[in-house]
Amino acid sequence: MRFKEKTVIITGGDKGIGRAVAAAFAEEGANTIIGYHKDKSAADETVKLVEKAGGKCEAVKVDVRSRKDCENLVETAVKSFKRLDIAVNNAGVSTMSWAVDLTEEEWDFNMDVNAKGVFLCCQTQVKQLIKQGNGGKIVNIASIAAKRQAMLLSHYAASKFAVLGFSKSLALEVAPHNINVNCVCPGLVKTAMQEREIGWEAKLRGLTEEEVINEYNSHIPLGRLEEPEDVAKVVLFLASDEAGYMTGQAINIAGGMEMAV
Ligand SMILES: NC(=O)c1ccc[n+]([C@@H]2O[C@H](COP(=O)([O-])OP(=O)(O)OC[C@H]3O[C@@H](n4cnc5c(N)ncnc54)[C@H](O)[C@@H]3O)[C@@H](O)[C@H]2O)c1
Repeated sequence: MRFKEKTVIITGGDKGIGRAVAAAFAEEGANTIIGYHKDKSAADETVKLVEKAGGKCEAVKVDVRSRKDCENLVETAVKSFKRLDIAVNNAGVSTMSWAVDLTEEEWDFNMDVNAKGVFLCCQTQVKQLIKQGNGGKIVNIASIAAKRQAMLLSHYAASKFAVLGFSKSLALEVAPHNINVNCVCPGLVKTAMQEREIGWEAKLRGLTEEEVINEYNSHIPLGRLEEPEDVAKVVLFLASDEAGYMTGQAINIAGGMEMAV
């Protein structure tokens, strides 16, 4: 029970990686506030799952592009559970396009949710953690596309490189407050986002979905696609006391797809 009585915010906590993170925290005693964007029924399902795992959980509608919504998320955590200890900024989107055809709308959409959303969430969370005066932990969900080339995802990769640059700089500035800021970089995780991407990629490259999946698998030394739980385990480690001396790091969780740091 590493997180007994800790309050954890998870953006995009209604489904996919965020849901697995919420359930894992609940199993270890945490109270969770999950942010969801549009899918109330997915959020309700996650709340049930988390409560079954033994934790208290509240779902809050949030668009991470809105400062007011990000502030409301933190205020709700404090109102419901007295304080904030940990935040996992996981909300994210992707679209696919050849860079040569990419529209400004697609660029802005990815940058706004993935990069600006992390900035707004972190800024609001850090203000609260500094006010409380007892430190805290922030884990931002980047991507392996934050460290390397990603075909059809130039705009997404740019937004995730931004997450790393922002997180490392923030880590430096808030270290004197005993706040740790780290990132994880997942690879090819079995979620709704991946399902959408397989369809788009097949269409854009003139392949079948099966061919796309086979190509994904051929890039993964550990020989299988990633489960949301693979990500959750490392997120919990970074949010735990065991990782107290780690900050400004970006940890690959990608089955060996990328071995450079
Ligand atoms: N699936 C993968 O292969 C993969 C790989 C690397 C990184 N990631 C990252 O992991 C994170 C979670 O992705 P996932 O695969 O679980 O995808 P998903 O599509 O299943 O979930 C995305 C989540 O983001 C939330 N969201 C979307 N737009 C939002 C907005 N404007 N405001 C607030 N919340 C919003 C949704 O509510 C949802 O909970 C994302 O940041 C994604 O970029 C995913």
